[in-house]
Amino acid sequence: MQRITLTQYLVEQQREFERIPADLRLLIEVVARAVKAISVNVGKGAIAGVLGEAGSDNVQGEAQKRLDVVANEILLLSNEWGGHLAGMASEELPDPYPIPNRYPRGGYLLLFDPLDGSSNIDVNISVGTIFSVLRSPDGATDESAFLQPGTQQLAAGYALYGPQTLLVLTVGNGVAAFTLDREFGTWILTEPNMRIPGHTQEYAINASNARFWDPAIKRYIDELIAGREGPRGRDFNMRWVGSMVADVHRLLTRGGIFMYPRDKRDPSKPGRLRLLYEANPMGFIVEQAGGMATTGAGRLLELVPEALHQRVPVVLGSPEEVSRIGDYYREMC
Ligand code: AHG
Ligand code: MN
Ligand code: MN
Repeated sequence: MQRITLTQYLVEQQREFERIPADLRLLIEVVARAVKAISVNVGKGAIAGVLGEAGSDNVQGEAQKRLDVVANEILLLSNEWGGHLAGMASEELPDPYPIPNRYPRGGYLLLFDPLDGSSNIDVNISVGTIFSVLRSPDGATDESAFLQPGTQQLAAGYALYGPQTLLVLTVGNGVAAFTLDREFGTWILTEPNMRIPGHTQEYAINASNARFWDPAIKRYIDELIAGREGPRGRDFNMRWVGSMVADVHRLLTRGGIFMYPRDKRDPSKPGRLRLLYEANPMGFIVEQAGGMATTGAGRLLELVPEALHQRVPVVLGSPEEVSRIGDYYREMC
């Protein structure tokens, strides 16, 4: 069997499809290398002393886990010296991180959620890393440089630390998945063109928030729960891992819909997930796999961001389901 590595895939994207210039290829390779180091730490767990609370809060007031901090540092240190970046932004940093003066600066901005699904770390359930790449306007690295709509993303990807470690990537030319060969330390292309299957019978939502949902979401979920006896005329099944990466990877693999919709728990937070380093990269990947990504009502990637850590409602997955929710929003508003 011929094994295509991440490097070969990226070189081909550069050469044949002219999708990516050499410095963007380098950027993606460096992120992929950092992800390997995070994977080793996730895999060692208690042996490496990386489980448990870090004893600090992030800018969003969430308690940081040790692995949140470790993964953040791995990504910063791996990416700061290569000369391809102007700056970085992370869920775990209050402000943008400009490339230190001792290193050359490049033209890209890297945004990441270093460890997605933090609440699952200590119970040995799959977690991930999410990243997004933008071009820096004139080399700027202040907050406003990062406030670009998701349509401007040049690349996006996620790593899934599960039974296997996977890297799922788009450079705007479909979605490819790579599996980490742990013995060789190489990423092997295992799915060259991920497409969301059309037929859906699974949905993912944190149903404990039902009393806070918009009427459109409530109606949609009620109809799924009604199953064969309801207006949909068939049964649906529910799954909620609680790590967005794992929940979205499942729908990319076998179809479905993922929702963390707007709810009225806390009026200052229009959603749970963060626009720039969770919703936009995952939305870009889902669209590139033939799916749809919205806020419920409108296309996610067209939202013009107002703040680095802005939260946003997220509905993504199979087009028929996502557009049905859009219809319900239009009918019920
Ligand atoms: P993070 O660990 O980066 O803060 O993200 C967790 C997110 C996302 O992965 C998941 O879908 C969601 O939070 C789960 O939220 P609930 O705990 O409210 O279900
Ligand atoms: Mn997250
Ligand atoms: Mn996180």
